[in-house]
Amino acid sequence: MTDSNLNDKTRELIHTLRDKEKIRILFVCLGNICRSPAADGVMNAVVRANGAEARFEIDSAGTGNYHIGDLPDRRMRVHGARRGYTFDHICRQVRPSDFDNFDLIIPMDASNERNLHALAPTTEAERKIVPMAQFIDLSSRYDYVPDPYYEGAEGFELVLDLLENGCDNLFQLLQTNSK
Ligand code: 4NP
Repeated sequence: MTDSNLNDKTRELIHTLRDKEKIRILFVCLGNICRSPAADGVMNAVVRANGAEARFEIDSAGTGNYHIGDLPDRRMRVHGARRGYTFDHICRQVRPSDFDNFDLIIPMDASNERNLHALAPTTEAERKIVPMAQFIDLSSRYDYVPDPYYEGAEGFELVLDLLENGCDNLFQLLQTNSK
């Protein structure tokens, strides 16, 4: 991993997770039809490529409720398919029990992050919230994953570039032998 936005608090949290038998990760965005289901799919692909399926449980959810029950946005699925991903998550909203059921809750941008802090039942639960940008290389020049919903093809490709980089870095950080 090259330089990223990872802070000391996140480093400490990641360190505590490395010894766990099972690591449960929830990716969160606004609609749960573009960025977070893509993050879910990309992270699953990284885990599969490393033969680590038994160690990870990955899911995604939205802070909003506009698209509950929907497949990911068709544009996100098309751009993902070009890189070999199948994004087939069924949209759901974040629920309070997510703070019990997941170890890491990863918002895509600052607005998602604020909404998660407001939903978190305890300060201990709030410690599980780590923005995706902390896992993305500084050289990307992005400190959030931008919403592609009102953008063109470039917006979706940018999301995939940032997520592939961030998910690779996150997986490496969670390896028991990493620093
Ligand atoms: P996402 O993108 O948060 O990456 O899933 C969006 C999808 C839908 C809407 C907003 C953002 N919407 O307003 O419907």
